[in-house]
Amino acid sequence: MSSQEQGALVSGVRPFAFTALQHPIVTTLLDQHRDLLADLLDGLGSPLHVVLPEIFEENITGLRQAFADAGAEVDILFAEKANKAACYVSSAAALGAGADVASTAELVKALAGGVPGHRIGVSGPEKDDTLHALAVQHNCVVAVDSISELRRLAATARLAHRRVRVLLRSRVDSQPGSRFGMADTERDAAVGLCLELAEHVRFQGFSFHLNGYSPEERATAANEMIEHCLEARRRGARSVDLVDIGGGLPMRYVDPPLWEEFLRQNEPAHYHGTKASRGFSFYPYGGPPPAQAARTLMGHPVDGDESLSAKAARTGIRFLAEPGRSLLDQAGFTVYRVQQVEDRRDTDGYAIVTVAGTSLSLCEQWFNTDYLPDPVLISAEPAGDEPFPACVAGSTCLENDMVTWRKIGFPRPVRPGDQLVYLNTAGYHMDFLESRFHDTALPLKAVVRLGDDGASPRWRLDGI
Ligand SMILES: Cc1ncc(COP(=O)(O)O)c(C=O)c1O
Repeated sequence: MSSQEQGALVSGVRPFAFTALQHPIVTTLLDQHRDLLADLLDGLGSPLHVVLPEIFEENITGLRQAFADAGAEVDILFAEKANKAACYVSSAAALGAGADVASTAELVKALAGGVPGHRIGVSGPEKDDTLHALAVQHNCVVAVDSISELRRLAATARLAHRRVRVLLRSRVDSQPGSRFGMADTERDAAVGLCLELAEHVRFQGFSFHLNGYSPEERATAANEMIEHCLEARRRGARSVDLVDIGGGLPMRYVDPPLWEEFLRQNEPAHYHGTKASRGFSFYPYGGPPPAQAARTLMGHPVDGDESLSAKAARTGIRFLAEPGRSLLDQAGFTVYRVQQVEDRRDTDGYAIVTVAGTSLSLCEQWFNTDYLPDPVLISAEPAGDEPFPACVAGSTCLENDMVTWRKIGFPRPVRPGDQLVYLNTAGYHMDFLESRFHDTALPLKAVVRLGDDGASPRWRLDGI
């Protein structure tokens, strides 16, 4: 019996092949421009985030079209929290889209990237006075979370001799225990206060926070906000006409049948160490593509047969949408260099591949899982007859620093110097939890544009 066969017996499972979808631009880069990727990794360090603004721009155009097809008037504000790269903000500005920001640094980046203040939405709970002041000066629309925040913001506007544009963030019926937004009584009082403070407050509408990715639930929540607008108009706030539907559009990392199969087959033995003992909470990797979700959301019946977009048109309501993750669909990937391979196939049934870098540069920590799709192995080695089972570890001294706990069935043995490409990592995976642990530098981002012919990609470091 070969050592590989013994290993397979020891582990008792075959790795599940969980292949990520690839945009044609990504495929071209991985198939035809490997030398460029290798040079970039050599020169800029591992891991390297490759960010692809052309795909981000395509996503903005596609989402706009989907909302327009559904008959809805929607301004798109890119939620900057999903990725810190400046190139996306500049692309949003160039296409006339806006930005959703939740800190002073994000607001400054939006302005520096060319987004005009009137296309910037400021969200986040109980924002500080510095952020308020900047938002007031630049005519941003501020989603206010409480009466006390409304009072502070109005005072800032009064001092600046300006009127600040305000949305009232309201708690939705389906998530009454949320820590964000105002419950019914407080919201009613806030509407009254907006009317009282009209000299300094331009009350425009309502926003909400909703956990989860269900377009139907989001449509129901948006409908509640339309009703709040109509009630506010009855109370005298005649110009109220804006509903912010937030982000939360799902996106598709893998084909839905593969996702279903993954869920059916998933079991603790597929993972290294103790990861599985903590249970799983997965992002829905096989969800609908964002444009389809946008059409479902806007077409969802909210009043009898009337769709959300039809009701908005009838009542003169416009929408803001703040997609983060979904605008970044396919718009970046992350490359690690393999540093060492510890072959434990004889004893444990799988190898441990250690990469240069840490798992904090590629995470899905919020969902108590790794980033699940298989990385693509770039190697000079010919494909083997049997998969090479391995998990992927970061090169820190932490037992838990695993980039992929799940055992991957690599198509050939992994060797030091090979590259692992994690696809579709731009939305929250790249820099959400990045860390300078061990005094290492943060990974760099290379902005790559393929151009029309695809023959000679151009790259630069990210930055305004
Ligand atoms: C107010 C607000 N807007 C936008 C987003 C972005 O959501 P997503 O990246 O899922 O589109 C979030 C996510 O937390 C949010 O809280």
